[in-house]
Amino acid sequence: MEEKLKKIQQDFLNKTKDTKTLAQLDELFIALFGKNGQLDELSKQFKDVPKDELKKVGPLFNQIKQQLEISINEKRGTIRKQIYQSLQNEKFEIPSERTGRKEKKGHLHPVTQFEEDIVKLFEKLGFVQTDAPQIDTDYNNFEVLNIPENHPARDLWDTFYIDTTNYKLQTNKLLLRTHTSNAQIRILKNNKPPIRVMTLGRCFRYENADARHEHTFEQFEIVYVDKDVSMTHLQYLSEYFFKSILGKGIQARLRPKYYPFVEPGVGVDASCAFCKGKGCKVCAGTGWLELAGAGMIHPGVLTRGGIDPDQYSGIAWGVGIERMTMLKYGIEDLRSLKSGDLKFLGRF
Ligand code: DAH
Repeated sequence: MEEKLKKIQQDFLNKTKDTKTLAQLDELFIALFGKNGQLDELSKQFKDVPKDELKKVGPLFNQIKQQLEISINEKRGTIRKQIYQSLQNEKFEIPSERTGRKEKKGHLHPVTQFEEDIVKLFEKLGFVQTDAPQIDTDYNNFEVLNIPENHPARDLWDTFYIDTTNYKLQTNKLLLRTHTSNAQIRILKNNKPPIRVMTLGRCFRYENADARHEHTFEQFEIVYVDKDVSMTHLQYLSEYFFKSILGKGIQARLRPKYYPFVEPGVGVDASCAFCKGKGCKVCAGTGWLELAGAGMIHPGVLTRGGIDPDQYSGIAWGVGIERMTMLKYGIEDLRSLKSGDLKFLGRF
């Protein structure tokens, strides 16, 4: 058994190294982790292994499984980087070159520019960027974060569920992630403290669109776990973030708020950049604007991530990116950001 495992390990590490495209990598992933994949097949044989041997083989199995998953993920990152670089070198034919009309240069979307700024900001504090899928399991998006089925908190995050009846999948509960918090369990499982990881990307909700809400939007999230991490770090990071992005005069305020996966949970407010905290139309007269949700990671979530809550504590913090972009640039309607209106987007 041990030999078989090691053979799979070697074989797949080599294959991962040799893959050249994301599609090949996906195939490899399925051959390894999919239903009837090599690991699944091997684990079916566990029932015939003597107990003594199983004690050794079990942990080895998990260790190798984790190693292979990490190596595939790393390779995915490398290939993405290569694709990105090759696209940067690609030369597009610009129509104005043919017509002789004055060339009008494009630029990155304001939300993308903003995302790049945030990532640089947190890289300075030693945070490393990671990724989580936009289509995820009910477990990763909800259950593991203390939001079981039928929990009233699900109403806050109503989303789009995927009909999987016609696909042979390991789980039939797939959905469009409602927040980047679906990355939390992966971050905790795949890293050892001290952990400083950030993630960002697209999220979805079953939501009526208005000037401040969209069904499709971006979030940014950080997870910081170490010995003696406390709410003070949360206050500091919130202020660091707001001051760097919105201006030195901005203050951060933590206000008690319920999120099932943190204890205590807080809403993070920034003093209103428009009226300097005096109260105006944008902040509904309060002088503050809620920008993020955060808190101390719940001991149950840490435990499920393989981290001992008696030894370590952590904070998690998630912010809506479009909301902050609106504030930064004084945009009144969030929907204009995805409008594709070049006259509007050209302003940034
Ligand atoms: N995921 C939450 C939401 O989208 C925001 C959030 C709250 C993120 C608390 C966190 C957190 O990391 O600790 O509404």
